[in-house]
Amino acid sequence: MSIKAVTDTDVLNRVGNTPLVKLDSLSTNGLEYFAKLEGHNPFGSVKDRAAYWMIKDAEEKGILTKGKSIIIEPTSGNTGIALTGIANILGYKVEIVIPEKASNETKEIIKSLGAQVHETTDDLCPKVGAGTDQSIALATSIAANRPDTYYSPNQYANEANFKGHYYGTGPEIWKQTDGKITHFFTGVGTGGTITGIGAFLKEKNPDIKIIGCQPQKDHLIQGWRNFEESAKPDLFLKREQVVDDWISVTNAEAFSVVKEVFEKDKLLISPSSAAVYASMKKYPIEGEKACVVGIFADDGRKFRSIYAQQNVMTEGEFDKALEEARYMSDLAYI
Ligand SMILES: Cc1ncc(COP(=O)(O)O)c(C=O)c1O
Repeated sequence: MSIKAVTDTDVLNRVGNTPLVKLDSLSTNGLEYFAKLEGHNPFGSVKDRAAYWMIKDAEEKGILTKGKSIIIEPTSGNTGIALTGIANILGYKVEIVIPEKASNETKEIIKSLGAQVHETTDDLCPKVGAGTDQSIALATSIAANRPDTYYSPNQYANEANFKGHYYGTGPEIWKQTDGKITHFFTGVGTGGTITGIGAFLKEKNPDIKIIGCQPQKDHLIQGWRNFEESAKPDLFLKREQVVDDWISVTNAEAFSVVKEVFEKDKLLISPSSAAVYASMKKYPIEGEKACVVGIFADDGRKFRSIYAQQNVMTEGEFDKALEEARYMSDLAYI
């Protein structure tokens, strides 16, 4: 038997094409529920797609110089991990501006991948809108002072973020469900995921319902945005009409399903995946047949400390679950 080492090109080729798994805990005869496991991207989240597309787009536009350019971005975590991992491979340095409320595991991963980290006292998801956000303001001011060196992809307005989902995730879901999808659920950070997938699916079949999940105010769902607390990002505003309906979900509702999903589906899920699951579970579906897909944006492994703090699982229970969980990616954070 020969063992083949994973190369940088292999890692970049592993962005996208994530598995779609059936949720037995929610599915009944005619109603089928599925999770799109974005934790299987090489740096562990849905954000690998946006990061890859934004860096490639900047390279094509001649904005980046290998060995010289520094990519700087405000993020609540996953974009920071994704940009740092992918930029390392492609030869760029990264600086990440992150709210201190993000999980310690998230910040440690970003540092261990080699990025310089600036922490701010912001809310969990950097707010959008002049004067309301320190992460975005700090990243913008660092970049503005040295435009020859720094480049900020600005995921909140970058069309390449949308394209990663319109050309990638949307077609994957269409193919994986044989065009049978009837309902799609996800949360909103920048809006790249919901508008990219939503726009693609609506072109295929305008009857597919696109449902956005809204966390409560002052929420603990890393990666998500509550629109009463924070303005809608430009990228989302551009195509917000693709969203047919919204469902609200509380921290307690999200955290209460983490153990249940582990026990019934053997998946160790993240807070945002739990919020999607809780939303799918309570959303009333009309009719007897449906194919419902939710984005599980990352897996649970970065949330050991938050789950212990929130009494979701003790650290011991978490470690046991991590060993027993199905479908954990083996490529995360290499
Ligand atoms: C952890 C996490 N990050 C980010 C997002 C959203 O990404 P986007 O910025 O594309 O709206 C989600 C959406 O479900 C998420 O759960």
